[in-house]
Amino acid sequence: MNDFPSFLAALRPEVDEALDRLLPDAGSEPAEIHEAMRYSVFAGGKRVRPALVVLAGEAWGGSREELLVGGAALEMVHTFSLIHDDLPALDDDDLRRGRPTLHRARGEAMAVLAGDALLNRAYEVLGREPASAPPEQRLEAVGVVADAVGTAGMIGGQVFDLRHEGDLDGDAAERPAHPAVRSLERIHRLKTGALIEASTRLGGVYAGAGPEGTEQLGGIGAELGLLFQIGDDILDEVGSSEELGKTPGKDRQAGKLTYPGLFGLEGSRKKALQAADRCLALIEGLPSGRESFRALVAFLVHRGS
Ligand code: IPE
Ligand code: IPE
Ligand code: MG
Ligand code: MG
Ligand code: MG
Repeated sequence: MNDFPSFLAALRPEVDEALDRLLPDAGSEPAEIHEAMRYSVFAGGKRVRPALVVLAGEAWGGSREELLVGGAALEMVHTFSLIHDDLPALDDDDLRRGRPTLHRARGEAMAVLAGDALLNRAYEVLGREPASAPPEQRLEAVGVVADAVGTAGMIGGQVFDLRHEGDLDGDAAERPAHPAVRSLERIHRLKTGALIEASTRLGGVYAGAGPEGTEQLGGIGAELGLLFQIGDDILDEVGSSEELGKTPGKDRQAGKLTYPGLFGLEGSRKKALQAADRCLALIEGLPSGRESFRALVAFLVHRGS
């Protein structure tokens, strides 16, 4: 594989089939929440995290069918994080994945509950499936995801993101640069990096890569995650709502601590390339699949959505 967008496109029906199988039916009671969960999950996300579970796991000879279970669970967690990230109490966004955000379409109560339900469903799935996997493997998978979601992971990152909201208001020259740089990297490694690191780790867990192999995959995921969020910040400045499926320009408006806000666009692109180089160096240590991971890094450096 030397073209990651084609890999994503080819994998997408398999990911969506797994999600469809593992989510509650839209018509089952209480139907309004099941419909709301599916509204956000099937709104057209890129499915990068499931693709990472598959790439990482297949590098260690894992089974595609099993990896898709982990990938679908992570996509549920990710979608929960987006639904709640968009709420008026957080980023207050109206558009997501090319559709009105869930709280806009179905009301805040259903958005809160559908987010909760997606997170819960993810753990149900990780704990029970694949049924053929040894219980220790399923327990480890639950642990990997729980660590990544919690206050030392994505949720913690969202708290730091909120803590520093407004930090980039005012004059750049008056900002204390060094503490802000450290805070910025921490926000990004946690709010986005943690779930991306969990994706590659999960691939290792399902494929039986062992502690060292899983750790190595986690290291790659951590750098990919930082690279991913630097790209997200850049796209917030230069992308259009048609390309992104979300409203651009929101970070600057909210005074969010971002890479372009602190380093400018060119400086951010440089930081992205540095993260990409760190990734590429780690990828060399993989037992196989190096070419696919390099294609992924190239995609993340150049992505337009
Ligand atoms: C957006 O993630 C939120 C971040 C964590 C940066 P994605 O860019 O992967 O969003 P979807 O899944 O494609 O909608
Ligand atoms: C997303 O960060 C982090 C999570 C959803 C956990 P952003 O707030 O930058 O994501 P977008 O830009 O709204 O997708
Ligand atoms: Mg946010
Ligand atoms: Mg947001
Ligand atoms: Mg963003």
